[in-house]
Amino acid sequence: PSGRVSLTVNGERHAAVIDNRTSLLDLLREQFGLTGTKKGCDAGACGACTVLVDGRRVNACLTLAVRLEGAEVTTIEGLAPDEDDDLHPLQQAFIDQDAFQCGYCTPGQIMSGIGCIREGHAGSPEEIREWMSGNICRCGCYVKIVNAVEQAAGAK
Ligand code: FES
Ligand code: FES
Repeated sequence: PSGRVSLTVNGERHAAVIDNRTSLLDLLREQFGLTGTKKGCDAGACGACTVLVDGRRVNACLTLAVRLEGAEVTTIEGLAPDEDDDLHPLQQAFIDQDAFQCGYCTPGQIMSGIGCIREGHAGSPEEIREWMSGNICRCGCYVKIVNAVEQAAGAK
């Protein structure tokens, strides 16, 4: 069974005909060519696929694309879309704090961190750890990731 969905991604309208079972993650990566959003587990356990839907962070691998009619999606590519744009404060904080090694988890960490800060859950390192716990980093950069979220939360 297939369906049609039209949604906004990083400010641009997109329409697609998709199998009803297509995840937002596969729609972004395979049909829209937005490969910044990563597939780690494809099962809701790692957070690598985190994007914002209508301002709220979600695991794109668990989100059915057909249900997003009219939604506004923001991916890592939407944060500083043009070469001469300033980086988003949390992107800059990840660089300043050296908060990544391989970088595979990083787009998800950044999108989740933006959600965490917006939700008001970045008041202390403990709180950040708790509310970022859905984002796994196999390189073990957790201390620096928390520092980066703290930095960006302070810069709001
Ligand atoms: Fe979505 Fe792991 S790929 S949570
Ligand atoms: Fe390698 Fe997080 S930087 S998984």
